Amino acid sequence: MMDQLESVRKQFLADLESFPENSKEIEDFRSKYLGRKGSVASLFTLMGKATSEERPTLGKELNKLKQDLTRQFEERVSTYLVAHQKGEDDSIDLTLPGKTPRIGSLHILEQTLSEIKDIFKSIGFHVAYGPEVDDDYHNFSALNIPEHHPARDMQDTFFIDPTTVLRTHTSNVQIHLMEDEDPPIRYIVPGRVYRNEAIGYKSYCLFHQVEGIYINEKVSFAELKGCLEYFVRQMFGPKIKMRFRPSYFPFTEPSAEVDMWDEERQQWMEILGCGMVDPAVLENVGYDSKKWHGYAFGMGVERIAMLKYKINDIRLFYNGDIRFLEQFS
Ligand code: DAH
Repeated sequence: MMDQLESVRKQFLADLESFPENSKEIEDFRSKYLGRKGSVASLFTLMGKATSEERPTLGKELNKLKQDLTRQFEERVSTYLVAHQKGEDDSIDLTLPGKTPRIGSLHILEQTLSEIKDIFKSIGFHVAYGPEVDDDYHNFSALNIPEHHPARDMQDTFFIDPTTVLRTHTSNVQIHLMEDEDPPIRYIVPGRVYRNEAIGYKSYCLFHQVEGIYINEKVSFAELKGCLEYFVRQMFGPKIKMRFRPSYFPFTEPSAEVDMWDEERQQWMEILGCGMVDPAVLENVGYDSKKWHGYAFGMGVERIAMLKYKINDIRLFYNGDIRFLEQFS
């Protein structure tokens, strides 16, 4: 009987020499010797055949064998695990500089928009938003641009259906605000607008505007000029060259545009339209145009960012080039 014990031990030690290489082989090895149906467990059946004199010694020897083999097996498993892990540890070179994770930042347009908002908030304007998909009435007719009026051609329009458009300007929100609230009101309205027009360095099919509207009992063109000059100086600094130029918009009378000197191209660039709100527009929203007066303006955010940050092509805002965007993070 003791011979049988010894031969299991020998076999076990021989197998242990070529100790398994992966976890599946380790498990097979364990169950072959130490499992419920393994060689050691089957040696315990010898107890039944032993005489009562043999039994105590046999029992002792069996337990000793089981403990021995278990201990040796576990030792080998832990050597195996350590060796395995060491392999992984070697692949980490702690002396290398770390990889800095990319951190996102606000898009340059978003930064420009918040600068614009902050300047107007500091002089008493509230911020409002309105629909990008709107009806013909709010985008055109209520602003004194009737159907078939040539002024509609000033803004090539994306139509959703014959009477619904992607707004061509933020001026539609002037109408919504005046419909919803009684005067006096003083708002700026930032938002996206869409134009179905030729794409170039300063024109894109979508862009951003900030609309402004101020309605009160006494409002003068001088106040409009003062307000916009203040804005431009805050945005670009005191030395910037700007000019007011008479212009035409159906919803303002008189109307003007503001140009800024583009140092890069050595020419004027238009950044906004403005004027005194036309009495017809006030009447359209039910305001008494004898009592209430106002001014309005609408500026192009991309063009302002282009001048301020010396960006020479409007398309750069929209192509998602990380190298461009990172310059402003
Ligand atoms: N909506 C005009 C445009 O997109 C800009 C504009 C001009 C807005 C005059 C105004 C305004 O509020 O008074 O070209």
